[in-house]
Amino acid sequence: MFFLLYPVQSGLWSKYPQNVYNENMGKWAINNKVCLVTGATSGIGLATAKELARDGACVIVVGRSKKESQAVALSIADETNCPKVDYLSADFQSLREVRDLAREFQKRYKRLDVLINNAGVYLKDRQLTQEGLELTFTVNYLAPFLLTDLLLPILKKSAPARIINVSSNSHRGLKIDLDDLMTERAIDHPKTAYGKSKLALLMFTYQLAEKLAGTHVDVNAICPGGVATNIWQCNNDLATKAFRLAVPLLKTPEQAAELIIYLVKSPELEGVSGKFFALQNHLKYIKSDLRKTERQSSPESYDTQIAQELWKASEELCEKYKDF
Ligand SMILES: NC(=O)c1ccc[n+]([C@@H]2O[C@H](COP(=O)([O-])OP(=O)(O)OC[C@H]3O[C@@H](n4cnc5c(N)ncnc54)[C@H](OP(=O)(O)O)[C@@H]3O)[C@@H](O)[C@H]2O)c1
Repeated sequence: MFFLLYPVQSGLWSKYPQNVYNENMGKWAINNKVCLVTGATSGIGLATAKELARDGACVIVVGRSKKESQAVALSIADETNCPKVDYLSADFQSLREVRDLAREFQKRYKRLDVLINNAGVYLKDRQLTQEGLELTFTVNYLAPFLLTDLLLPILKKSAPARIINVSSNSHRGLKIDLDDLMTERAIDHPKTAYGKSKLALLMFTYQLAEKLAGTHVDVNAICPGGVATNIWQCNNDLATKAFRLAVPLLKTPEQAAELIIYLVKSPELEGVSGKFFALQNHLKYIKSDLRKTERQSSPESYDTQIAQELWKASEELCEKYKDF
């Protein structure tokens, strides 16, 4: 146990990947790749981090609390027998904590091959962060927008690299209202705020893919379908209550993680960027052919003008609230 604990606590393994990577790595062998997974303390993120560790990747578990992230990193290292599991923490309600996370990561690591923006919430009611930003928008969209931006230099330096944004089919039927990004006017609040945050994440994915053309950093978005995780515990609206009844039938986090792992590992996806991949069915009994999961997202998600304006507004928000 000491062997597993020591590297995680000391950050020793953070020096490991940069020593061995350049000389020995194949193009997309996952072994020793440096992978940062947000929201890795439960559900789909935890299942993804575990699978990556099992494959011999160097995994950085990112969670909201330091204590929980550390405990999860230790249990993954223990269970998978992979010593290269590290942890960092940041509450995504705070853009300052997102900045600290990016800074701390770059202090410890000299490369980043895979960034998985998975952390997300589905709230019970409209809530604000301390500085007055709508919470769902901040955690599900603005935080990954900022984190990705701050990590882009290291991703480009490590290319070929991959970014995977965990979005959702709940973006469908919604539009970004640039005058109401904090969804003050939205009807059916938690559901709309959640769907819009996932739409924003999708539009960001498509814009970023264009900006990254030629850099060998690919960025794609996914929807894992309906998955039995904690996310369904927070909300009490009628649709969520109904969905909760079906939880025992829903896909497991491990099944959902398979799609992320497919996007991380598949050599044939090198150069595939700006796409949306979705598991269509929700039931754990139905197996999906991962090679057939690429989908069109909603027509609204391809609106480049709105996407560009959203990007600009997001940059302004990140600048305005950078110290909070
Ligand atoms: N489950 C589904 O059916 C489904 C469907 C479509 C999309 N998704 C998406 O899949 C992703 C993973 O969700 P999940 O289903 O696996 O749910 P989950 O088990 O609730 O996991 C969510 C993760 O995000 C973290 N998180 C929440 N708020 C945070 C904050 N303020 N700062 C930092 N981290 C925070 C959670 O940390 P804590 O443990 O500290 O709360 C947890 O690790 C989400 O983006 C979700 O929107 C899920």
